[in-house]
Amino acid sequence: LPDGQALTPPMGFNNWNATGCAVDEKLIRDTADLFISKGLKDSGYEYVNIDDCWAAPERDPVTKRLTHHPERFPSGIKALADYVHARGLKLGIYTSAGTVTCAKTMPGGLDHEEIDAQTFADWEVDYLKYDNCNNQGRPAIERYTKMRDAIRKTGRKIVYSLCEWGENKPWEWGKEVGHLWRTTGDITDTWAKMVDILKKNAPLDKYAGPGHWNDPDMLEVGNGGMTDTEYRSHFSLWSIMAAPLLIGADLRKVTPATFDILNNREVIAIDQDKLGKQGRVLSNKDGRWTFVKPLANGDIAVALFNETEVAAKIGATAAELGLPQRAGYKVRDLWQHKNFQTAGEVSAVVPPHATAMYRISAGHDWSWQQPAVSTGLELD
Ligand code: DGJ
Repeated sequence: LPDGQALTPPMGFNNWNATGCAVDEKLIRDTADLFISKGLKDSGYEYVNIDDCWAAPERDPVTKRLTHHPERFPSGIKALADYVHARGLKLGIYTSAGTVTCAKTMPGGLDHEEIDAQTFADWEVDYLKYDNCNNQGRPAIERYTKMRDAIRKTGRKIVYSLCEWGENKPWEWGKEVGHLWRTTGDITDTWAKMVDILKKNAPLDKYAGPGHWNDPDMLEVGNGGMTDTEYRSHFSLWSIMAAPLLIGADLRKVTPATFDILNNREVIAIDQDKLGKQGRVLSNKDGRWTFVKPLANGDIAVALFNETEVAAKIGATAAELGLPQRAGYKVRDLWQHKNFQTAGEVSAVVPPHATAMYRISAGHDWSWQQPAVSTGLELD
């Protein structure tokens, strides 16, 4: 939506991948606290979002408003918003553009758009994820547009996430309706599913931009079903695709390695780059992928992703990457946090399931120097 919000992809947390319906207010408060104590807020994570199952099973009989689930959220959503806001963070909430939500534990927003949007605004909610279950077969654009208009009517700034799973090509109409749209069905904490979603989201690069993002679903980093190498790939790929970075793990339970991945500010800077271009696939040779993403200051980001089971040399020439012709280029390795220089190509030997990620500097003219001896970068 061209309303000045989500000018870079939203960053934050959503509990669904970690807990499903077993969400409670303590998890949300603890996550907000960990955003501060673990440096995640300083890395850019901002939204603490609640998914399905937060509400009581029935609307208030008199006001017809949604109310908080009495056991999971005894203090109510407004109190939680206050808690999160007091820490300089924002609160997100969820419902479905249907009669009930996907978990069927609470009413959905269909035909209750205005009262629900007003309730969320009254609670000072900052983000709404609007799911697609139990939609009675009614047209998606109409259902999602109604909630957009209802949010607008409240006058509150709310980031609006369309969760219709890519069923109605939301990349073709979502730009005028929401700030982000899911492009696929649900992620799971497996290598195969992460790669499957990557393949569906990657070709949609031309549809993304400031205020309107492709959403390949929330992160699984830290949930335990993949190796740290695979999680680094997941994080790298989501970042080069300018995807929302919504942490999907229970941060009370993750390892230090998980925090290292989630707090890699050099990779986050690629995701959050103000130019707002989704990186595109330059080549995919039998699972050896090169992505390239132009950046606001003229630099480019490159990700070399090895989908295969064997180490492989992956790379591209400077010309293929669209770099101006020079004797050498300054390259920053965004996982090893080291500078290199290279001549005519950017390449690496990438271990199985790993991703090498680089920022190639536009601002340094190396032509006065001797051409770099090495033509490639070796990644262990
Ligand atoms: C389906 C969505 O795609 C998920 O992200 C999650 O919100 C569940 N519904 C909740 O029921």
